[in-house]
Amino acid sequence: MMASIWAVVPAAGRGTRFGGGIPKQYLDVAGRPLLAHTLEALLSHAAVAGVVVAVGEGDEWWPGWSEFAGKPVLTCTGGDSRAASVLAALETLPESVRADDFVLVHDAARPNLAQADLDRLLESGRADPVGAILAAPVRDTLKRAGDDGGIDGTEPRERLWRALTPQLFRRLQLTRALQVAAAAGIEVTDEAMALERQGLRPLLVEGREDNFKITTPADLARFEFELARR
Ligand code: CTP
Ligand code: MG
Repeated sequence: MMASIWAVVPAAGRGTRFGGGIPKQYLDVAGRPLLAHTLEALLSHAAVAGVVVAVGEGDEWWPGWSEFAGKPVLTCTGGDSRAASVLAALETLPESVRADDFVLVHDAARPNLAQADLDRLLESGRADPVGAILAAPVRDTLKRAGDDGGIDGTEPRERLWRALTPQLFRRLQLTRALQVAAAAGIEVTDEAMALERQGLRPLLVEGREDNFKITTPADLARFEFELARR
């Protein structure tokens, strides 16, 4: 039996690349907000005990859940970057989550997380001293662009991975790493980056390519297609 683990979900973004009046995490997908699909993917896992969701300041769309799939949902106000929102959520975790307990961080905008991926992340990550992230190898050929839009060259893609979420780290170590990065004025775009800056080496756990982040309307159409196929 795996010890239970808390998750934090940054959901305080405004979805500027998606466009439209309502932040993408609240768009209706199959009769529920997109965020409901994300929370269900996380909370339906037996090892996940509860979640802290960081919502935007003055968020008028938050459905007011205090429980989801029979598990507790806490909220906090996010910040003006993803990292600031994650930090706020970490600070809102209940005291029962100890300093060296592992915590999952998962994007609100990534609803298509498979249980098997979460299983493997938890298993490999908890066996690693630092933690782990889901990631996918880069498949496309990479070009470096010149100022004029011409190609300056082709970059080797061997050993390059795309960082996905969830990411699994220890509560205090992650909190400290995010605080240090923030104090240095460095915008980290995922949790692993904050730990890497401290010389730590989280593990890459290969995840499914279809754990994509909804960034544009085309991504939403893809998720609707995946849902209909389930
Ligand atoms: N996020 C957050 N707080 C922020 C910015 C982002 O909690 N200040 C969250 C988003 O809600 C999302 C996740 O971080 O779940 C990944 O961010 P992204 O896909 O970039 O979402 P947005 O920032 O909302 O989109 P955009 O960058 O297009 O504005
Ligand atoms: Mg963003």
